[in-house]
Order: sequence, then C-alpha cells, then structure tokens
Amino acid sequence: MITLKNLFKYYDNKFQRTYVSKDINLTINEGEFVTVMGPSGAGKSTLLNIIGMLDEPNEGEYYFLDQPAHELKEKKKTEFHRNYVGFIFQAFHLIDEMTVAENIETPLIYKGVKSKERQSMVADMLDRFNMVAKKDLFPAQLSGGQQQLVGIARAIVGKPKLLLADEPTGNLHSEQGKEIMKLLQKLNEEGITIIQVTHNEDFAAYGKRIVRIADGRIESDEIVSSLAQPQLS
Ligand SMILES: Nc1ncnc2c1ncn2[C@@H]1O[C@H](COP(=O)(O)OP(=O)(O)OP(=O)(O)O)[C@@H](O)[C@H]1O
Ligand SMILES: [Mg+2]
Repeated sequence: MITLKNLFKYYDNKFQRTYVSKDINLTINEGEFVTVMGPSGAGKSTLLNIIGMLDEPNEGEYYFLDQPAHELKEKKKTEFHRNYVGFIFQAFHLIDEMTVAENIETPLIYKGVKSKERQSMVADMLDRFNMVAKKDLFPAQLSGGQQQLVGIARAIVGKPKLLLADEPTGNLHSEQGKEIMKLLQKLNEEGITIIQVTHNEDFAAYGKRIVRIADGRIESDEIVSSLAQPQLS
C-alpha cells in the first residue's frame, strides 16, 4: 500500500540545510497496524504528514496504492488524501463553531457526498460512538475523550483505507487513552490500515509492528510479539 524509497525531507534557511527525514525506506502493506516511536523532534509527524500527502518529500520516491505520489499534481494528491486517508490529531483539531454532527460531516462535503447520504453516514457514526445525544453540542461542551471520539468519527466517516493517528492519546488521561487504543485495534481488525505515533510504550503494543525513528532515520523496525499485544475484547 505504501512504499517509501530513499526519502529525504529538509528545510533550508539562509545559512544551512537541516534534514528532518534521512534516507527513509519503508514498506507498509494493507491491513497493517504500525506504531511509530522516537524522541521529540525525530521526524515522526513529518513522516506521517508525508504519508498522508499533507506534506511532500524533497528527495526520494513515495508510492501510495501503486501510484507515484511524489510525481502527482497537487489536485490529484488532494483527491487521494480525501478519498483514502483519515487523519487524527493530538489536539483533536475540531472546528469550534461547528456541532459534533457538523464536524463529522465536513469531510463528506469535501468528498462530494450527497446531503441525504451524508446524514445517514453521520448518523451511523454517532450511533457507533454512542454520541447521538451529543450531536448538537459544540466541541467545548465535550470532555477530551469525547472530543477525540469525534475526531476519530470524522477521520473514518468517509471509509478511508488508511488511518493516520499522530499522538491520538497525547491529550487524554490513561483510561481515555486506552479506550481510544481499543477502538483503533477494532478498526484495524475491520480492515483499516493504521499508522499511529505514540510516546507511550503500553499503547505502542496495540500496533503489530513498531518502527523507531531517531534523528530523522529509521533506527529499528520490529514485529510486536502477539504475547505483548493487548487482547481485543
Ligand atoms: N516548517 C518547518 N521549518 C523548519 N523546520 C521544521 C519545520 N517543520 C518541522 N521542522 C523540524 O523538523 C523536525 C522534526 O519535526 P517533527 O514535528 O516531525 O518531530 P516529531 O518527531 O513529530 O516530534 P514530537 O514528538 O515533538 O511531535 C523538528 O526539528 C522541527 O523543528
Ligand atoms: Mg510530532
């Protein structure tokens, strides 16, 4: 599904070039659940943003669903992002002025889904996440855990093939975080490919493979023993 070849990302200023991704080579198959770990500033978000086509590499190749994303025009990339990728953020990134239902509906509008179908897809999500009673509330009227549920509902309402989660539990208490991890695990069982970034070793083991990044490079890439994996319940 995803192939990165000799990928580099850098930023130039007047005096020097700073590399934040260095010679990344990575293949991720459909159905995988990958955890990315590493110190702050190691380049984890950068990598996720490149994979999600929100950012682009300076050098190297990126194939997404067998298409050369590094060669695609901006418009085509936006289309790929809208149709195949869901993104969950640490800071939720909900729109404060929109209700829960409207937030969840937003990506479907961009995707061009008709109003009636949108309503039914949003209703399914509200139902699934037990948020029907909250649908007309604004994000500020929800707990952090509930806001992240809305963030996840919005990310998956369009049925993406790939779900990218950049520290989805970073702003949550550990119990809320665990709920979110269980939800990701369940979504993966249902077939969505997931790449998550986390600093939490316990949550890392929800993934089936851990890629560690240090100073822009992949340092290790290991399968998580099924014994270490929390059971889906
Ligand atoms: N627009 C930019 N201009 C210059 N440098 C940038 C830019 N965006 C990111 N960087 C640098 O790239 C490096 C990697 O950033 P990135 O956000 O990918 O780290 P991270 O691994 O996600 O860290 P954290 O765990 O703190 O979220 C950092 O040193 C950052 O300062
Ligand atoms: Mg980050």
